Amino acid sequence: MKTSQALSIFGVFALLTFAYPGGGAAGADSLSGKWLSPAPSAAKKNPNAPTQTSIAAGQKIYSKTCVMCHGKSGDADGPAVIELNIHPAKLSDPQLMGTESDGSLFWKITTGKKPMPAYGKRLSETDRWNLVNYVRTLSKN
Ligand code: HEC
Repeated sequence: MKTSQALSIFGVFALLTFAYPGGGAAGADSLSGKWLSPAPSAAKKNPNAPTQTSIAAGQKIYSKTCVMCHGKSGDADGPAVIELNIHPAKLSDPQLMGTESDGSLFWKITTGKKPMPAYGKRLSETDRWNLVNYVRTLSKN
């Protein structure tokens, strides 16, 4: 490659980088495809122990509210998936769930991310922690 060519390519790159401050970080996140939760939220401890009662309560909400997208076993094959052409996270995937803290799952359920709705106002805090406990069981089956 000629020096002048290399320089002009660098020029375009520099223009893109400096013209959109912060664009680089957002781009890297969407490129990796991973949905990250803020560190303080991810560090939050689950106040609800994963008892039978808590898991059963979580399952009840899950089958009413989440199954249409995430599927009965968490395989991301709910009826809405084909209809809406969306790609829900596979909650049955031990690799994905292994990197997620309870606090992170709680934050994601609370905040949502299109097309997943935010459940912060629709479900109580206890309901959301119970869901975390139930969702955990899906990757262990
Ligand atoms: C309209 C479809 C839809 C519904 C309903 C829905 N989700 Fe999701 N969910 C998604 C999609 C799509 C993603 C992937 C978002 C992304 O990463 O871009 C997702 C991601 C998640 C994640 C993040 C996984 C990870 O670690 O990245 C969790 C946890 C989750 N959903 C739990 C739930 C729970 C619990 C409910 C029910 C209260 C629910 N979802 C309802 C579509 C849905």
